[in-house]
Amino acid sequence: MRILILGGNGMLGPSVIESLGSRHELRITDINELETDHEYRQVDVSIIDQVVDAAEGMDAIINLSVLRPHRQIAFDVNTRGNYNMAVAAKTHGIRRLINTGPHFQLAGPNYEEFNFELNSDMPPQPGTRLYAITKALGQEILKVFAEHQDIYVQTLLFYNFYEAETLKHPAGGSRIGTDLVPFSVSWTDAAQAIRLAVEIPFGRLPSRCETYYVFTDLPHQKFDNTKARTQLGWQPRHFLEGIWTKPIS
Ligand SMILES: NC(=O)c1ccc[n+]([C@@H]2O[C@H](COP(=O)([O-])OP(=O)(O)OC[C@H]3O[C@@H](n4cnc5c(N)ncnc54)[C@H](O)[C@@H]3O)[C@@H](O)[C@H]2O)c1
Repeated sequence: MRILILGGNGMLGPSVIESLGSRHELRITDINELETDHEYRQVDVSIIDQVVDAAEGMDAIINLSVLRPHRQIAFDVNTRGNYNMAVAAKTHGIRRLINTGPHFQLAGPNYEEFNFELNSDMPPQPGTRLYAITKALGQEILKVFAEHQDIYVQTLLFYNFYEAETLKHPAGGSRIGTDLVPFSVSWTDAAQAIRLAVEIPFGRLPSRCETYYVFTDLPHQKFDNTKARTQLGWQPRHFLEGIWTKPIS
């Protein structure tokens, strides 16, 4: 498959490129420069012409771009970026769109305390936080496109990532023996879920718009990953026990 990746030069990008690179033809893009053996173009997702041009000749688009802090730019990247991706798909007849974001664009702050078995088909309630609301709006735009066009949208939602081998947190330091947020996954398992979403035949999807919570199996079962497991056939390989099991002294 020929796949356009938007925002491919961030934290998740390298794992996604690694998992797809030997199986597909990649056109990686980002607003920044990137050295890679794959085809690379500098593309700003908030500029529609750039996204439409970059999508020419592609079979699928994966959007990994995100901008968290700035009110205008967050809207331009997280919301308008998805609109631009959908217009590019419609323009070139691309049927497969993979969207990504944080769990709280669906679950919002209401569920940060006590709850369990929250599933990815719950009604969206992102609240008013900039990151969550702009990503949630972007997801709604894709949903409307999927309802009216022959376009399949799969949204994969994440929260916290770890280097499984070292249990190292991106913010730095080891987290062994500390509590972990109830929604964590290794980078490689996250990338594997994206690969499976890219490769799943359309006929195996119940609708043109599906959303998945992607995190490893954790004992509290706060978020339910059943859909990623059953629909995508995803199996987490890293259970991160080193974090949530504490040594008995
Ligand atoms: N890293 C996390 O902890 C985390 C947690 C939950 C969800 N996510 C989601 O995972 C996905 C990937 O996130 P990440 O961790 O790689 O984020 P990141 O911030 O590391 O990378 C985002 C990428 O988007 C690019 N970008 C920003 N503005 C752009 C623009 N205008 N045009 C093109 N590219 C632009 C950046 O240059 C960067 O390479 C995102 O959808 C994010 O919401 C990440």
